[in-house]
Amino acid sequence: MIKTIYGTKDILPDAVSNWNYIENLVRSQMQLFNYREIRTPVFEETVLFKRGIGESTDIVSKEMYTFADRSETSITLKPEMTACVVRSVLEHSLDKISPLNKFFYISPMFRQERPQAGRLRQFHQFGAEAIGVSSPLLDAEMIILAYSILKKIGLKNLVVKINSLGIPSTRENYKNLLREFLKDKISKLSEESQKRFKTNILRIFDSKDERDQNIIQNAPLLLEHLDNDSLEKFEVVKKILLDNSVPFEIDSKLVRGLDYYTETTFEIISKSVGSQSALCGGGRYDLLAEQIGDRKIPGVGFAAGIERILLACENEKIELTKNPSADLYIVRIDQNLMSKVYSIAVSLREQGLLVELDYAARSVKSQMREANKLGADFVLFVGGDEYKRGELLLKKMTDGSQQILNINSLNEIIKIIKG
Ligand code: HAM
Repeated sequence: MIKTIYGTKDILPDAVSNWNYIENLVRSQMQLFNYREIRTPVFEETVLFKRGIGESTDIVSKEMYTFADRSETSITLKPEMTACVVRSVLEHSLDKISPLNKFFYISPMFRQERPQAGRLRQFHQFGAEAIGVSSPLLDAEMIILAYSILKKIGLKNLVVKINSLGIPSTRENYKNLLREFLKDKISKLSEESQKRFKTNILRIFDSKDERDQNIIQNAPLLLEHLDNDSLEKFEVVKKILLDNSVPFEIDSKLVRGLDYYTETTFEIISKSVGSQSALCGGGRYDLLAEQIGDRKIPGVGFAAGIERILLACENEKIELTKNPSADLYIVRIDQNLMSKVYSIAVSLREQGLLVELDYAARSVKSQMREANKLGADFVLFVGGDEYKRGELLLKKMTDGSQQILNINSLNEIIKIIKG
């Protein structure tokens, strides 16, 4: 048996309505904030992510689906969208057309991680990027936008965490402080953190290992070593969130797994899901465009994982949608009336009714069973004595009431069903 690849999932029809619900809600909310949809290819040149996300990150060093195509170009399935959107802005010089480009996306992403609940190898994100203006007003807008979508979905146990990573020079100074603090404790750190000490020291804060946690809890904090400009911007973000009733926590250990961040970073966590609790993450990336292109364009954005959101909804027992029930099921009593039944269905569907019929010459009893399974509001019987008299029998399934109608009065049927 050929099966889906480990870490990927079919989204079966029963689940698709929830996906559509979230995607529609995202589209309408993004529109209110004036973000416009952008779609980029599923694969890009590998160098885009190496330069954009950073060679020492887990994503680039361990998780990318990278392969050489037939012309030996190194290609990577996109693990995230920010680098792709910035590439697109640069490539099409969109920054020269408009000083601020506000874009959103809904797209599959690919990371070869160890699958578990809420962690897949093909997963789906929606996200937004505001590219062109470096202002904490936009940092706050991103948090408000992401939070508003999660609230509209109906999620309750949300925690917004914010931090500022400062600018590269203050961060470098801070890294030296951290190196100084950790240097005589290296052997006590987990193996992974010992590696990170050399490659990406800030990521030690992400470790869930108890040994690392014990050591790091007394480490100096980056937030306490920011310069005045970064601190002021952070204050603006906090004030806007307070003014607009977005509850938040300051988490000075929130470093995120991508190297392109400067200053504001944030995550929205759900207390309703297990270890993969980050529903959404984002931040400012004022130096990314320069790293992958030829000019400096500031930006800020976020992305949220749709599978994790659906998991949180399931755990909070939020019913997003009901699968649509049929308006009408046509039961064919006489097998030789197939073409009549078929054309009634075609005409009623043209009038906007969800109509189903039997395609397999089944008994009346099986057809009724099918009508019940589809939750049909009405059943139309075609055949028997009524049909010989030029009539059809319409039964309302909720109360069992029946009506006899003329065989040619389809408009009457439509009127009754549409109520
Ligand atoms: P990220 O934190 O890597 O950020 O991913 C954002 C969200 O995608 C996560 O919070 C999570 O919900 C979901 N996600 C990530 N990996 C997986 C996975 N393997 N399985 C299921 N869901 C996953 C970014 O991707 C940045 N591009 C966000 C951003 C946009 N920053 C600025 N602009």
